Amino acid sequence: MCGIVAYLGDKQAYPILINGLRRLEYRGYDSAGVALLNEGALTIHKCQGKVSDLEAHVNGHGHQGTLGIGHTRWATHGPPNDINAHPHQSTSGDLALIHNGIIENYAPIKEELRSRGHVFHSDTDTEVLVHLIDDIQRSEGTDLAESVRLALESVVGAYAIVVLDRKNPDMMVAARKSSPLVIGIGEGGEHFIASDATPIVEHTRNVVYLEDGEIAVIDRQHGLKIRNIKNQVKTPFIQELELHLEALEKGGYEHFMLKEIHEQPRSIRDSLRGRLNTATGEVVLGGIKDYEQKFVQAKRILIVGCGTSWHAGLVGEYLFEELARIPVEVEYASEFRYRNPIIHEDDIVIAISQSGETADTLAAIELAKGRGATIIGICNVVGSSIARVTHAGSYTHAGPEIGVASTKAFTAQVTVLTLMALMIGHKRGTISGGRFHALLNELDAIPAKVEAVLRNEAQIKYIADIYKDSTNALYLGRGFSFPVALEGALKLKEISYVHAEGYPAAEMKHGPIALIDEEMPVFVIATKGPSYEKVVSNIQEVKARKGKVIAIVTEGDTVVQGLADHVIPIPETPEPLMPLLSVIPFQLISYHIAVMRGCNVDQPRNLAKSVTVE
Ligand code: M6R
Repeated sequence: MCGIVAYLGDKQAYPILINGLRRLEYRGYDSAGVALLNEGALTIHKCQGKVSDLEAHVNGHGHQGTLGIGHTRWATHGPPNDINAHPHQSTSGDLALIHNGIIENYAPIKEELRSRGHVFHSDTDTEVLVHLIDDIQRSEGTDLAESVRLALESVVGAYAIVVLDRKNPDMMVAARKSSPLVIGIGEGGEHFIASDATPIVEHTRNVVYLEDGEIAVIDRQHGLKIRNIKNQVKTPFIQELELHLEALEKGGYEHFMLKEIHEQPRSIRDSLRGRLNTATGEVVLGGIKDYEQKFVQAKRILIVGCGTSWHAGLVGEYLFEELARIPVEVEYASEFRYRNPIIHEDDIVIAISQSGETADTLAAIELAKGRGATIIGICNVVGSSIARVTHAGSYTHAGPEIGVASTKAFTAQVTVLTLMALMIGHKRGTISGGRFHALLNELDAIPAKVEAVLRNEAQIKYIADIYKDSTNALYLGRGFSFPVALEGALKLKEISYVHAEGYPAAEMKHGPIALIDEEMPVFVIATKGPSYEKVVSNIQEVKARKGKVIAIVTEGDTVVQGLADHVIPIPETPEPLMPLLSVIPFQLISYHIAVMRGCNVDQPRNLAKSVTVE
């Protein structure tokens, strides 16, 4: 979604802003813009399209200044076009503002401001903010920071903003509510602001994460000062970034998605490190230690998430039921938050989110928290909003995921859920000591088995080439493999724009079987396990209708080999761990089909990496 970058220092701001906007491209956007202050003049450049289009638009003119703001917009209110792109400017021409989030009560504010002579140009909700701040400055005679604070008092919604004022060429003001902002503190008084740390890390490792309801004022003379919306002074808490620049580069791969698929042996290992000890037969999750007993005694677990994180949650349901014998309900955060769900004080709610910023998941957490449940987070981004609002949690150590399609985050989430379910099951005595130890050893062996699956990429690419022109695809799995079928279908949809559906294999005959003909590829997870024979029957049903079957099988399988059009063998592992292996061929198939179809793999159309609006 939208991205923010801002700079105040003694260097030229424009190259820093452009580089920062490039770092933010992964979030998904459809227009970009910058505003620069130089010698009393405020210059704004903005246009629909990519950061490269913005550069062409600027074309070496009007890009001077050591103070500037930049933005990538993901359209919500009004289509992607030059006028709706940020920054937006006040009628007086003095103020420029960039904004992430949504101003819910923008319509009445706009009406009121119009009646007071402010001229609106765009369809955006954002534009009301810049006129409102300008209006307050003029009518109240307040300075920029106080005008921002007063304006935000009357705003309902989510925002991260940065504002410049032509009359204050040494200052920028930023504020956040429900949309993240990070401030980087560099050398010699230079400061950076960004919606995430990716544009900052190459300049400084010292950062301050702005809290909800805080307003930061950065000026050349006094540096960084923070107040909250109630005008109370806050002390900035400076932290060191854990992010490393190499993690934001492609490292020789053609796309981030491919790099991230290949990083999975490492990211799963990192998610296990220090937590799984096969020698002592222990699982230690330090982040949830204080809530372990509550977890062990839980009568019910609710899991909330969106998209791929929701799919990981479904795997979690199978894991907790199988290993810890606790009833589990998995909820789309977006549905959960608007129902009137029954939540008990002894419920454990697991919130799963790669970004830790997904608006619906955050709202679902707030709802469950308000009703007294204990919230455990599984997040990838350290210090993210979800990581901060949950009672406890375990980070997935997948490293930054830049490709919009989630890959290594999914396997890291499933890894952490597996550790949790094993630990809780062991403590509850719902799995035998023998099975517990065997599963620990098997889990420890997963990264090496993922490496083995990845070595099969050439064959997977060959299959992708055969089916690259298909317009529909079906993904089938049973038990632990059902969520993987959903995830496989989502991957194909989001990056190749091929219509795909995931189903529990047995459901096929209740409807989707009508779609099957000789054109239809059907991807089936047919690994050895309790439902193997049933899945073999489902494959036969597809073949009887001339569908094309691509089956993921356990190494050495000959039965499915004889039935399917193609088989992709993967190493043997117990059924609860199978999703960590069976998802990999689906990720690779989607990746290669998308590349062969000429799609923008890392930034698929219409999609955003972190969905910070509901
Ligand atoms: O950051 P989150 O895990 O909360 O994001 C949830 C979904 O938006 C995300 O998983 C989305 O479905 C991905 N594009 C899937 O690849």
